[in-house]
Amino acid sequence: TTVSVSATASHAIPTSLFGMMFEDISVSAHSGDGGLYGELLQNRAFQQVTPNTTDALSAWTPVGGSSITVIADPSPLSSALPNSLALTIPANSAGQFGFANEGYWGINVQAGTSYTASLYYRVASSIPSGKGSAPPTLTIALQSASGTRLASHSVSLETGGWTHVSAVLTPTRTPASTANLFTVTVSGVPKQGLDVNFAMLSLFPPTFKGRANGMRKDIAETLFEVRPAFFRFPGGNNLEGQTPATRWQWRNTVGPLTERPGRVGDWGYVNTDGLGLLEYLYWCEDMEMEPFMAVWDGYSLDGESVTGAALDPYIAEAIEQIQFVIGDPETSEPAALRASLGRKEPFALKYVEIGNEDFIGNAPGTVASRWNQIVTNLSTTFPQLQFMATSDTGSPVLTPTPQTYDIHVYQTPDWFTTNSFFYDTFARNGMTFFEGEYAAISSNSSNIFGTPDQGRFLWPTVAGSAGEAAFMTGFERNADIVFAASYAPLLGHVNDSQWTPNLVGFDAGNVFKSTSFYVQKLFSLNKGDEYLPSTLPSVNGTLHWSVTRWTSTSELVIKISNIDTSPASLTFVLPFKNVESEGTVQLLTGAATASNTPEEPDLIVPTTGKVKTGETFEYSAPAMSVSVITFGAK
Ligand code: AHR
Repeated sequence: TTVSVSATASHAIPTSLFGMMFEDISVSAHSGDGGLYGELLQNRAFQQVTPNTTDALSAWTPVGGSSITVIADPSPLSSALPNSLALTIPANSAGQFGFANEGYWGINVQAGTSYTASLYYRVASSIPSGKGSAPPTLTIALQSASGTRLASHSVSLETGGWTHVSAVLTPTRTPASTANLFTVTVSGVPKQGLDVNFAMLSLFPPTFKGRANGMRKDIAETLFEVRPAFFRFPGGNNLEGQTPATRWQWRNTVGPLTERPGRVGDWGYVNTDGLGLLEYLYWCEDMEMEPFMAVWDGYSLDGESVTGAALDPYIAEAIEQIQFVIGDPETSEPAALRASLGRKEPFALKYVEIGNEDFIGNAPGTVASRWNQIVTNLSTTFPQLQFMATSDTGSPVLTPTPQTYDIHVYQTPDWFTTNSFFYDTFARNGMTFFEGEYAAISSNSSNIFGTPDQGRFLWPTVAGSAGEAAFMTGFERNADIVFAASYAPLLGHVNDSQWTPNLVGFDAGNVFKSTSFYVQKLFSLNKGDEYLPSTLPSVNGTLHWSVTRWTSTSELVIKISNIDTSPASLTFVLPFKNVESEGTVQLLTGAATASNTPEEPDLIVPTTGKVKTGETFEYSAPAMSVSVITFGAK
């Protein structure tokens, strides 16, 4: 195959091209709570649980034969957190009594690392006072699986109302596994017994960039390797709610953690909302990403639509959500709230997504009217913002005409290769596109969303990642209209079986980088800033490429996806006189069905080598591979 490259760029590669999509997803994966969000305790504040049930105690177990129950506290810590854990220690008990939290399938405890533990308690029974009666002692500790205490902090119990205890726990040794416990115990219990209620318990490790209430460092650092240009949040389905009443609501996610009620998320578990709107915005700044923020648009997953006058309060809510992000504290209440939380300056925001997947939400035929009502209102208040539609591009016709559509696709590896030219036929009429979710998730084209035994991938495969790379060369060729794209979902705990595959896997102590992660990273770090047209690949072929260049350094970037089972030979013919004689090739290759897994996390990693380059040069793209060749050419 001969590939002749043009000297003249056809279009710029937008800096926003490769970014990330995030939502709190998957019941046993916990991508936000238990994943990206740094909190180590599961069910820390008994949010949205039914008191006096076993489920309400999820992740908590009694210690020392004590009795624990989640109760609707008659005198709760806050109205947002009505439930407490009631510890009952019977009369005439001696020793340690309390409870333990197992974290999210473990707690990673490392020697020399400082963990911030905190809790609120309220002594619900009386403690005898007077000579000879020392107050009971409350001890917060980290404990290994075998019961060894790794670090602890003790205080004397005080009576009165709710008391806050905060302590830094710094273990001096690293236990053998992450099957550790966070324990809270009481000793020196008076002989008539003791009742103590606990609320809002927390254990935080050091976070990414030291941000308070921030993100888990190893996951964040992995994502930062990709240098994502944008971050789409808070969903995905998790924006929508199973019903309008259970939609994601920004106000419930801001302010002190004790004022956040949490929410029954759309993926079968309670979201603490500790990872709230302000945390998302700081995270975007810390990661140097542009926020792509969604607002609720009157459609929930049960198929309900809210239209007409009934939609107005939700539009007001969306306006307030945006004001919280970019408003002026002098003139806007949500912006004043932001300032009161320590952030006077507005955040940078350009893109606002209207709902999620309205191509499903049009079933009741309400998309056009909802879009018109919402966007007419929002663009009057915020003429500087760009609103993204989530319905099908052609149908129904939306007015005002969307400047941007968010398009999603989950398919087979082959589909992605065959559809590398997906955007080539789109009209050039000013409309732009965000490929907001895409991933090769199954080998079974007639049952894409089926189970693993029906072909669903547990982890990205080499064939899937190479297929995605072929599709991504199409983004670059069409980057005059495709300005952004993100693989989805981003994160999954290795316990996950609800949604697979995910770009990055993790457990309590490890982060696993998939083959698709490496493809995202290769494309993002080597995107170039202008596109050089070249001989077009065969539309239905197995070999796809794109050529871009960094103008400031005259570095040429050639990306090649070969999903054939044999190597493919390419001859590049360049229009430049000064071409370096040697280039660098970054190569990802392996068996079509091979994956990086927790058992073999580094089975397939990119290698870096040298390749002979020149005005004309040949390159053999290995079977089932993604290659990125870079060299100077001007
Ligand atoms: O990424 C998983 C889900 O797929 C998202 O929540 C939704 O937008 C899509 O259907």
